[in-house]
Amino acid sequence: MTAPTQTLSTQSSRKILVTSALPYANGPIHLGHLVEYIQTDIWARFQRQRGHECYYVCADDAHGTPIMLRAQAEGISPEALIARVSEEHQTDFAGFNIAFDHYHSTNSPENEHFASHIYEQLKAQGHISRRVIEQYYDPEKAMFLPDRFIKGTCPKCGADDQYGDNCEACGATYSPEELKNPVSVVSGATPIKKETEHLFFELPHFETMLKDWTHKGHLQTQIANKLDEWFESGLRAWDISRDAPYFGFKIPGETDKFFYVWLDAPVGYMASFKALCEKKQLDFDAFWAQDAQAELYHFIGKDIVYFHALFWPAMLSGAGFRTPDAIFSHGFLTVDGQKMSKSRGTFIMAKTYLDHLNPEYLRYYFAAKLSSRIDDIDLSLADFTQRVNSDLVGKVVNIASRCAGFVVKKFDRKLNQAWSKPAQDLYQQFLDQSEPIAELYEKREFAQAMREIMHLADLANEYIDQTAPWVLAKEDGKEAELHESVSLGINLFRVLITYLTPVLPETADKAKAFLQLEHLNWSAINEPLMGHEIVKFKPMLTRIDPAQIEKMLAASKDDTAAQKAMQQAPDQNKETPTDMEPIADEIAFDDFAKIDLRVVRIAKAESVPEANKLLKLTLDLGEGQKQVFAGIKSAYDPAEIEGKLTVMVANLKPRKMRFGVSEGMVLAAGPGGKDLFILEPDEGAQPGMRVK
Ligand code: MSP
Ligand code: ZN
Repeated sequence: MTAPTQTLSTQSSRKILVTSALPYANGPIHLGHLVEYIQTDIWARFQRQRGHECYYVCADDAHGTPIMLRAQAEGISPEALIARVSEEHQTDFAGFNIAFDHYHSTNSPENEHFASHIYEQLKAQGHISRRVIEQYYDPEKAMFLPDRFIKGTCPKCGADDQYGDNCEACGATYSPEELKNPVSVVSGATPIKKETEHLFFELPHFETMLKDWTHKGHLQTQIANKLDEWFESGLRAWDISRDAPYFGFKIPGETDKFFYVWLDAPVGYMASFKALCEKKQLDFDAFWAQDAQAELYHFIGKDIVYFHALFWPAMLSGAGFRTPDAIFSHGFLTVDGQKMSKSRGTFIMAKTYLDHLNPEYLRYYFAAKLSSRIDDIDLSLADFTQRVNSDLVGKVVNIASRCAGFVVKKFDRKLNQAWSKPAQDLYQQFLDQSEPIAELYEKREFAQAMREIMHLADLANEYIDQTAPWVLAKEDGKEAELHESVSLGINLFRVLITYLTPVLPETADKAKAFLQLEHLNWSAINEPLMGHEIVKFKPMLTRIDPAQIEKMLAASKDDTAAQKAMQQAPDQNKETPTDMEPIADEIAFDDFAKIDLRVVRIAKAESVPEANKLLKLTLDLGEGQKQVFAGIKSAYDPAEIEGKLTVMVANLKPRKMRFGVSEGMVLAAGPGGKDLFILEPDEGAQPGMRVK
């Protein structure tokens, strides 16, 4: 017979560079981080398996105040600290089979070169300005204090021991100057106000470029919409310098001024790739020059969109480099529906996981959860156990184990030579999914890809159930049928494991040895294995015993590394807006019930002169007033709506915007632009009335 056919994708080889965000060099890798590194690794492996030239680089993000202070606390130099952490990170990543082509550090000569170069280009083009600012200063420690290193009493609710930028008790956001009884976290001293000159990157110069770039398909829709809000509240110059003492690069031409860690952090992508170019004789410019043909993608978490979708493209374009083809953002990890927590044992370090469980399990589970959206993803431990056991062990690996014995014992390890029509058809059905599944990987719709693959695994198991090789083996004259059944079973297993190779590299390697194949390239399945020899089956993956999970949780509870990692969060370096709430597909009734909708009277409507779309509304709720910034300027003349009734979401967490705090949201509907309608309730509606 002839091999089943499949139209080969004619797409020629692409040159692709992918990155994951650079983890901070002061804390261990935890399962939350791994969402991103696993997602990127699956995508990069998929591209290579398809025959493309794909490089995956990363590095440790080594600079900044927290790292400097952490090293001091440990009584070592920052260089010694980051060297140790780099080793730990790389060991963790290797443990999860994350296959970087290169792993670098932002504290490297390549990075200093590119950071200084970019800065000098920006400066030469007039994009750098200087301004004197006033900042809190620790007189004992003789250093300026980032907001996160000041604690005090919340100006709103009076809670003690709150950070300099927001209150964990009441959720208020404020500036450190508003905090009462401020103390320096570093020395305990009372900080004083001190003037200092800082350098700024003039982001507003790039407004037109960025507005254009953010709407050209480089970003997910949810992100592009979020950026519109940021544009709306106006782009501001970005403070890129820090005063000594600081662990970072000295700014050329300045004394005692250093680049703020977030300036040289993304440059680390370039630096790492540059180091790879040296190692492998690659052409750096083919990837980074303005006219570069190679594709460039950054995988990041939703908390760092601002840096990657605004500052970074602006810096690159201002300095004459290409901009990324896309920024792929993902959501945050929750465990059993909640934020990772030390007391529940769900703040799990990479290393702790590896002490108890196989990395392939987590790779598969994350794949089964990941999509191209930025929704948070939940690791439900019961579901994790169940899925891994039923899908990977029960369905996929089981196919090989059900068939291999017969091939080895009855047919001298050889697969058969020719297939009947139904056998060919079934194999063809598997091949027909090759391009659809590839497309799902390409679009980062991993969850859907896993569903399609598991559907095929079900079909393969049904086929084996129906042909029942264990029955055929006992009957006379059924040799050929038996041989076909188990040979096709092995072939279907080979297709499945090929489709799963990006997700399960270690299992794929074991499958390769079992199948005696040199590789599992995506297109190789077009040629089924006929008359091919395999070896004795050895279990490739074992079931998860729930006791292993219990042990891991117990170990995490007294993990001192977890303790330290927890103390570090939230991130002192992420000083810019990070409120990237995903737009949910569906919400439960309970979620809806939480929304406090109230009828309100628009007591005052004022235009915000610096914003194109914003009106500042003073809303009367009957018992008190709230201030809301609403993006409805294009639809309403403020004078027209004063005195009118509308509906507001009254319990929305207040949000600090550039022009003030917004304490809710008014509901409006319509196609947009001039045709947005504020709902006007029936007569008889009174401010303060609940709507539902
Ligand atoms: N150093 C910066 C990134 C600089 S990139 C030029 C940083 N480091 S981080 O260690 O805090 O985070 C590294 C990546 O892991 C980020 O993309 C972040 O979003 C991601 N995650 C960290 N915790 C996470 C979860 N709990 N869940 C999912 N991703 C998370 O940010
Ligand atoms: Zn408070």
